[in-house]
Amino acid sequence: MEPVEVGIIGTGWCGGIRAETLSRSALVDKLHICEIRPDRLAEVQKLTNPATATLDYQDFIKNRNIKVVYICTTPEQTHFSITRDCLKAGKHVLLEKPIAMELWEADELITLAKRGGLKFTIGYSQRFNTKFAFAKKKITDGTLGKPVSAMVSRHLSRTLGKKIASRVKLSPVVMESTHDLDFVFWLLEPAKPVRVYSQGSYGYMQPVNGSYDVMWSIVTMDNGMVVTIGGGWNLPPGYPNYCTTWVEILGTEGALILDDTHRDNWLNTVSEGTRFPMSTMPGEQVDHVFAGQMGPETIHFLEACIMNRPVMVTPESARMVMETYTAADLSAALNEPVDLPLSNEALAAIAAGGKR
Ligand SMILES: NC(=O)c1ccc[n+]([C@@H]2O[C@H](COP(=O)([O-])OP(=O)(O)OC[C@H]3O[C@@H](n4cnc5c(N)ncnc54)[C@H](O)[C@@H]3O)[C@@H](O)[C@H]2O)c1
Repeated sequence: MEPVEVGIIGTGWCGGIRAETLSRSALVDKLHICEIRPDRLAEVQKLTNPATATLDYQDFIKNRNIKVVYICTTPEQTHFSITRDCLKAGKHVLLEKPIAMELWEADELITLAKRGGLKFTIGYSQRFNTKFAFAKKKITDGTLGKPVSAMVSRHLSRTLGKKIASRVKLSPVVMESTHDLDFVFWLLEPAKPVRVYSQGSYGYMQPVNGSYDVMWSIVTMDNGMVVTIGGGWNLPPGYPNYCTTWVEILGTEGALILDDTHRDNWLNTVSEGTRFPMSTMPGEQVDHVFAGQMGPETIHFLEACIMNRPVMVTPESARMVMETYTAADLSAALNEPVDLPLSNEALAAIAAGGKR
């Protein structure tokens, strides 16, 4: 197995995690990092000792030796153009969610990757959460019988909610429940979503940036199953970027309840009070081991590229998730269920800002 040259564009929180993970891997021949904030570039450079560090991702485009690129930029509107440039330059790409801001952009990226014979995946890290991988196994091997319903309730701390919802007008279903829509659809393959009904609730966040605090979406699948997904970002600060999730999956032969609330690691200090370490969505490096999902996800994609194996998350499945959360936003705006795939009438209502 030949190690390859790898680039990371955007070394903030997630890109920093990926850079640290890749800097430790024997599969990486040379690591290259790109970040537009010079102070953060210098910080990650010190941490990961890359072969090159640049402020301009066009340097990666020109460098034909870089075969694999991780795109971890914000704001999310940057995803499309950077990914398009990397795919056009013949590089395999892992792009953080969301795949794009517009459905046509997602379609163009999918076509470019196909045409170029390139690996292209979206960072739906929760598929690398061992609890959700176990759920996939128990559904696939028949332990639960025929799946009947699934419920996910996920909440983030308001510090993170403020950061996310302030940089771009995206809702909790688009930015948080997207992970849950992805892994639940994966669990239930080959079932597909056919209808969404969504409602949002205002609270702390509305005066800050106009966003809902919480959204709940009921998705009907084409086999009649009902999926209920709740996501929000108004928890009081408990740990930087704290995230808590509760999952109930019911089948004809069994039930699986997954507690991903992170209450099993409780740190209490005089200076900071209660903390729940290792409780963020991507996880974190803890000395010699990665606690969470983003470390293994980063390496899985690199191995898929080097060994020509399938990626875990196909861009087509990410597009289906995008269509579903787009429908959820429209449903909340119209106060009525929306059918999937989106009709021309629904697409026109979305283009009109959620109005008929
Ligand atoms: N999988 C997960 O669990 C998970 C968790 C959080 C965020 N995310 C996603 O990951 C992405 C990154 O989120 P984050 O919290 O790390 O954001 P962040 O703001 O901490 O980092 C993004 C970085 O990109 C840099 N950047 C912007 N434009 C650039 C450009 N043209 N070239 C180089 N660098 C550029 C910014 O300066 C910033 O440092 C987002 O798309 C987000 O939706 C995924």
